[in-house]
Amino acid sequence: MNGAIQSFPPASSRHADLIVYGGTVLTPNGAERIDVASTDGRIVALGQLKWDWSADTMLDATGLHVLPGIIDSQVHFREPGLLHKENLEAGTRGAVLGGVTTVFEMPNTDPLTLHAVDLDAKRAAASGRAWCDFAFYIGGSAANAAQLASLERLPACAGVKVFMGSSFGDLLADDDAVLRSILGCGSRRVAVHAEDEARLRARRAIVEASGDVRDHHVWRDVGSALLATQRVVRLAAATGRRLHILHVSTADEMAFLREHRRRVTVEVTPHHLSMHAPDCYERLGTLAQMNPPVRERFHQDALWQAIRDGMVDVIGSDHAPHTLHEKARRYPASPSGMTGVQTLLPLMLDHVNAGRLNLLRLVDLTSAGPARVFGLEGKGRIALGYDADLSVVDLKARRKIRNEWIASVSGWTPYDGRQVTGWPIHTIVRGRCAVRDELLVGEPTGQEVCFLEA
Ligand code: DOR
Repeated sequence: MNGAIQSFPPASSRHADLIVYGGTVLTPNGAERIDVASTDGRIVALGQLKWDWSADTMLDATGLHVLPGIIDSQVHFREPGLLHKENLEAGTRGAVLGGVTTVFEMPNTDPLTLHAVDLDAKRAAASGRAWCDFAFYIGGSAANAAQLASLERLPACAGVKVFMGSSFGDLLADDDAVLRSILGCGSRRVAVHAEDEARLRARRAIVEASGDVRDHHVWRDVGSALLATQRVVRLAAATGRRLHILHVSTADEMAFLREHRRRVTVEVTPHHLSMHAPDCYERLGTLAQMNPPVRERFHQDALWQAIRDGMVDVIGSDHAPHTLHEKARRYPASPSGMTGVQTLLPLMLDHVNAGRLNLLRLVDLTSAGPARVFGLEGKGRIALGYDADLSVVDLKARRKIRNEWIASVSGWTPYDGRQVTGWPIHTIVRGRCAVRDELLVGEPTGQEVCFLEA
């Protein structure tokens, strides 16, 4: 940019609600030393603004990087019904403390989110209590398959989520007939937890016998993930339905998906990129127990290669809190899941500092990508007219991740004690500071998001 100012309003009214100045801003053009002005929640000017614009709030971002707000399209906030693990206020507070400005919340609550009344109850519960913007998935099952075409178009609906394998809760669509009926009703992209239920059931005896969490990825093996991914891609091809394969964890699925990318997008999680078996189970025991499991280094390397090859569209945390008391149950009675929404960005910035990906690719995976994949309106880039969702980070800050920092009701992280480089400093949701200098400010002002195709 040549120092010229891009702005909406006439030069005369150079006053904004907020100006973020002095930082390095990641726009679709790349990294630029420009200022960002926002009014009424939208970006109204980009350029050298500091000297001839004023604002109610001037936020100094000198030495910092300004990223488009992080969109975490896979979180479990456990409300209603499981409030001893998490709730919408604490979940979204952890999100903004971690630099996340939008979340998509999963349907395996109690009751499950299967009908309009369930979605409305979540919307009402989030209103005035959410620190970041939000949407909710509708669960896909035999019980509501016929209504999905209308359900997926409801306000604040992120789309349909399908569990092909049991994980946590009763939401399950494991046979082809049910899957076909779900994929045949509606047009939005369907998010899939791909683990093959029949194979999981057949192999469970392995862990019933050993009671050893180091067998978690042996039980829920590569075959369980690959079989389910192949099945659902084949079924979707028959109905022409677009898919989003959540938390791909194996090299084998990536090899298969290379040949089946039409209408299929791919998510990878920070834990599958940052931990590997057997080390994680040796160190953390059931705190590392996740579905699909964290696997050997070989699979982790393949996931990183897939990121470099452009095979991965989205990084999602799969924030899935359970209490430490529940996690202490004897495996396999211990539940699978860990917190992740607050640590997604610090972990991925640490990977940027380690040279595993660059900042532009990180922005693509955590903001532009989720907006593209889900058809989010007005989010996913720093550009005029877009929502002023900004994650302002210090790329060089060194911090130790601590359980005490975690806002989640469950209060723990598998990364407790992990030193990282790169940290979120300010989080701005539609032009309002939710976090300033790493501290929560103001009130929860999160709103429902809108989708282009809903
Ligand atoms: O480990 C997991 N826990 N994976 C899932 O897919 C669900 C989640 C949960 O809700 O606890």
